[in-house]
Amino acid sequence: MIIEPRMRGFICLTAHPGGAAQSVKNQIDYVKSKGAIAGAKKVLVIGASTGFGLASRITSAFGSDAATIGVFFEKPPMEGKTASPGWYNSAAFEQFASEAGLYAKSINGDAFSDEVKQQAIDLIKKDLGKVDLVIYSLASPVRTHPKTGETYRSALKPIGGVYSNKTVDFHTGKVSEVSIQPASQEDIDNTVVVMGGEDWAMWIDALKAADVLEQGALTVAYSYIGPAVTEPVYRKGTIGRAKDDLEATAFKISDTLKDLGGNAYVSVNKALVTQASSAIPVIPLYISLLYKIMKQEGVHEGTIEQIQRLYAERLYTGGSVPVDDKGRIRIDDLEMRDDIQEKVADLWAKATTENLAEIGDLEGYRTDFYHLFGFDVPSVDYKADANEMVQVPSIP
Ligand code: NAD
Ligand code: NA
Repeated sequence: MIIEPRMRGFICLTAHPGGAAQSVKNQIDYVKSKGAIAGAKKVLVIGASTGFGLASRITSAFGSDAATIGVFFEKPPMEGKTASPGWYNSAAFEQFASEAGLYAKSINGDAFSDEVKQQAIDLIKKDLGKVDLVIYSLASPVRTHPKTGETYRSALKPIGGVYSNKTVDFHTGKVSEVSIQPASQEDIDNTVVVMGGEDWAMWIDALKAADVLEQGALTVAYSYIGPAVTEPVYRKGTIGRAKDDLEATAFKISDTLKDLGGNAYVSVNKALVTQASSAIPVIPLYISLLYKIMKQEGVHEGTIEQIQRLYAERLYTGGSVPVDDKGRIRIDDLEMRDDIQEKVADLWAKATTENLAEIGDLEGYRTDFYHLFGFDVPSVDYKADANEMVQVPSIP
C-alpha cells in the first residue's frame, strides 16, 4: 500500500518500511566509513530498535563485526496497518546483518519482565555462549514490576514548584508559554521505578547468575543532563531523579561485575529528536535552537555519530575509559561547550513564533522527527507501493 505519515499530537501513527530500511542503511554506511573499532564481539542491546539503542546495535555490528541480540517492544504489522518504526528498523537491520554474514537475532517483548530476561539468557546460551557488552537503552513511560505485578507510570514534571517557560509545537511552529504543575512524591517515586536503575541491575544480576557474561564484560546505560533552561523539567525534575538513580546504579553494577573484571558505565548523551524526547515540553524548542548553533559551528551529531564516537573515542580506545568527576562518560561535550550554550541562551530569550523558523532549526527538527518513522528519507520512493507486512527474520 501507499504509506503516508498520519499524525496524532506528538506521535505518528504510521511508519514506512522502505524509509526505515534506508535510514538504517545510512547509519551502517556511516559506521563503516569511520573504520573498524576494536570493540565487543558478542553484544546484547536492550532497547535496540530505535534511537541510541539502534545506533549501538549498528555500531557494534558494523564497526566491530559483532554478533548482536536485540531486545525491544514493537508492534508487528497487520494487513492494512503498518508496524511501529522500530519493527521495520529491526527487520532491515537483520537483513543487512545477514547479508554481511553477521549473526543477529531479536526478541520482541517486555524487557522489564522475568520472561524476556530468561528468553535472552536462553538465546545467548544457545547461540553465543556469553556476551561481552550489554547496552541498556530503554525509554518507556510504563513499567510493570516483575516481582509485584504492579504497573507504574513515569511523569515529566518539575519538583517543588510550577515551572513556566517557552515551548514550541514543532508541527505548527507556534511558540507559547507552558506551565507545568509540580510532581507529587508518588510521581517522583514512580518515575524512578520506571526509568531508574533497578531494571538495569536486574538484567545484569540475571545475566551474571546464568553465567553468560564474559570476563571483562562492559555494560552501558544512557543518561542526559542538558542546559539550565530545561533543568526544572528535566535534570531537576522527575526524570532527573530517575537519571540520578540510574547513574548511582552504575556503581552498584560495577561491584557486581568486579570478579569478572567488568565495569558498568553511564554515558551522558546529546539531546536529540527521538520519540521519547518529542513528548517532553520545552525540549523541542531547546533542540531546534541547539541544532541551529551546532550545525553552524560544524559540530552537529545524530544518534549514530554520537554512538560511533562513544565506542571509538571512549569505550574502545585501548586505554582507560575517560569519565567526569561523577564517573560518567560524556559525549554531550559538544552540546555543553560554553560558547554553544551561550549562543543557545541568547536565542532562547529572543525566540518567538515569528522568528523561530529563521533563528532556530525547526526544519531540521521536523525532518529528524519524520525520519524516526521512515518518512522524508532522501532517495526513497514514497509514491511506490510499500509492503507493510515486512517481518523481522528471526522473530517467529
Ligand atoms: P527510543 O524511544 O528511541 O528507544 C527506546 C527503546 O526502548 C526502543 O527500542 C523500544 O522498543 C524499547 N522499549 C521501550 N519499552 C520497552 C519494554 N518495555 N521492553 C522492551 N523494550 C522496550 O529512546 P532513546 O531516545 O534512544 O532513549 C534511550 C536512552 O537514551 C534513554 O535512557 C534516554 O533517556 C537516553 N537519552 C536520550 C536522549 C535524547 O535526547 N533522546 C539524550 C540522552 C540520553
Ligand atoms: Na534506544
